[in-house]
Amino acid sequence: MPGRIQIAPSLLAADFSKLDREIKSAESAGADLLHVDIMDGHFVPNITIGPFVVEAITRVASAPLDVHLMITDPAKYASAFIDAGADSIAFHVEVAPDPQGLINMIRARRVKVGIAISPETDIAAIDGISSQVDRVMVMTVHPGFGGQKLIPECVGKVRRLASLLPAHVDIEVDGGISEATIAETAEAGANIFVAGTAIFGRDDRAGAIATLRRLAAAAYSRPGSTTMTNDQ
Ligand code: DX5
Ligand code: ZN
Repeated sequence: MPGRIQIAPSLLAADFSKLDREIKSAESAGADLLHVDIMDGHFVPNITIGPFVVEAITRVASAPLDVHLMITDPAKYASAFIDAGADSIAFHVEVAPDPQGLINMIRARRVKVGIAISPETDIAAIDGISSQVDRVMVMTVHPGFGGQKLIPECVGKVRRLASLLPAHVDIEVDGGISEATIAETAEAGANIFVAGTAIFGRDDRAGAIATLRRLAAAAYSRPGSTTMTNDQ
């Protein structure tokens, strides 16, 4: 359903020595999705996990896996993550020479598709393809690490996308989302919120998710898709 507020804890901030318990704790705390960050040490200066671990995660997780590919060759590896059990795949437009082909491939596998844009990437980079994805993921930090501060300029991109995208395309924000920042991104039009530190860094994860959800719901606004005339 477009516009539904969804909270996606990022496993990057979980304790990987007890990942099964961390996943169950996030789910029982009310997670709508589990965000899984895939980093290759090339597109970003950090390395995380591959399809083998994602497949292991599916054996303990019930919530859908929101797989975020921060890798240089998403077309080469997207299938492996779908085979591993991803429910959605987001790839970065900066490293997709044929985004349309990749969207078609992911859709053909009946998995949701998202397109991600880094802070330095203008929304013009996804002109023509943004209406064909399920989600646009606006990075609100430089991809690569958890626990960074939200870059305020990225919120303007959310606002512009919210006025341009058809209503069925969700807007996801990723990076630096906390009780202090979620409202401004929701007010700008985001409805899926990735949060790592702000959830796994707390003892009371149910409280953290409930607070994030309440703040987002209270602030959320998304203009209906309009033709761009008389924009004041
Ligand atoms: C950053 C990742 C994020 C990260 C968010 O490259 O894509 O998903 O886990 O972590 P926080 O919420 O701690 O900024
Ligand atoms: Zn992410």
